[in-house]
Amino acid sequence: MKILVVGGGGREHALAWKIAQSPLVETVFCAPGNPGIAHLAKCVDIAADNIDALLDFARDEVIDLTVVGPEIPLTLGIVDRFQAAGLDIFGPNQAAAQIEGSKGFSKRLMEKYGIPTAAYASFTDRDQAVAYIEEQGAPIVVKADGLAAGKGVIVATSVEQAIGAVDDIMLDKVFGAAGASVVIEEFMDGEEASFFAFTDGTNILPLASSQDHKRIFDNDEGPNTGGMGAYSPAPVVTDDLYGEIVETIVKPTIAGMAKDGCPYSGILYVGLMIKDGKPRVVEFNARFGDPEAQPLLMRMKSDIVPVLQACARKELRQEAIDWYDTAAVCVVMASGGYPGSYDKGFEITGLEDVMAMDDVVVFHAGTSLQDGRVVNAGCRVLGVTGMGESVAAAIAKAYDGVAKIRWDGAQFRKDIGRKALNRG
Ligand SMILES: Nc1ncnc2c1ncn2[C@@H]1O[C@H](COP(=O)(O)OP(=O)(O)O)[C@@H](O)[C@H]1O
Ligand SMILES: [Mg+2]
Repeated sequence: MKILVVGGGGREHALAWKIAQSPLVETVFCAPGNPGIAHLAKCVDIAADNIDALLDFARDEVIDLTVVGPEIPLTLGIVDRFQAAGLDIFGPNQAAAQIEGSKGFSKRLMEKYGIPTAAYASFTDRDQAVAYIEEQGAPIVVKADGLAAGKGVIVATSVEQAIGAVDDIMLDKVFGAAGASVVIEEFMDGEEASFFAFTDGTNILPLASSQDHKRIFDNDEGPNTGGMGAYSPAPVVTDDLYGEIVETIVKPTIAGMAKDGCPYSGILYVGLMIKDGKPRVVEFNARFGDPEAQPLLMRMKSDIVPVLQACARKELRQEAIDWYDTAAVCVVMASGGYPGSYDKGFEITGLEDVMAMDDVVVFHAGTSLQDGRVVNAGCRVLGVTGMGESVAAAIAKAYDGVAKIRWDGAQFRKDIGRKALNRG
């Protein structure tokens, strides 16, 4: 088979890495890819949101399956376009991708089908939103309805802060059209976890548990980021909780989407808040998590290609995925200054030393090639992922890798995976 992966971050590197191991696969292409992906796939210089060019490329190359990494092409309708051209593609269509593309859409779905989540109200009028905030009090959460690159959510500790957030979103339009509508939500206390399930719109195939680290600094301090590290399995998701998430969240969500006339196929990402052993949904995403994809795909023993193809063809019959009985931990190395502004173009050294290590893989995210040298070119630069017999062993492996890699200003958290250790 010839497979095209769309995207060029750590998630797409992990997908291309896993797909390339399949005996079914002849060639992996990645658009646009990155210097790390170039070691195992043919990178094609087409942006992930240039759907016309991607479609032309897939037709010309007679691609057997296209796998979409990021959310933007999904919400732009890449799946509808490929399907109309008779091409197999993994991911939800435009209507179903609203589950991520509109927070109001996903809240209405959860309300309709009794899926546990925070109480909320949706507003297109600024004064009504403010009145609701004053009535509810703080803490309270303000969310721009549309995609805002992970910056559209403000967890407000005071009524004034929440009103300020509404004004930023609705009056000053800091997130553009994404802020035409806001969701105001009850603050949920607890521990976050990520849960993923493959689905063809009817059948589901859940993945192993995982947990992200969203804050920039150790001990979950500082502002939110795209994710500073992740590990799998996550002990906060006990066997009982795993079953409860599948039964009370994943199944009714997929059934509800189908019932409402927009069946969801691809991978469903459920962001969870867990409190006293009970799960509630923070949000849904329409694609794999990044960085969670990195430890999850490293632990996946089953061939991923038949699963991706079955989801695309609406014929998912597989009942379970085999996992290595190990833990995997991914430490994200980011540019200095992130999540604020940062400088690019610093040479990254030590990558070859890590490539020679066993049980450690460096997934590239924001790197580029400059005069034959790999340099930092984005906010999150690398995901150093280690595998080991236990979470402790995997943490040690990942940080052994991190210690070999250097560039000016590189920053990373020192406590990735510690939450899992604290749970014993
Ligand atoms: N209702 C809530 N209660 C507490 N924290 C929340 C709530 N909603 C969101 N958050 C926090 O804000 C983060 C971002 O919110 P989320 O809905 O996942 O939006 P996005 O990922 O699109 O920015 C979450 O990971 C969580 O830490
Ligand atoms: Mg989120």
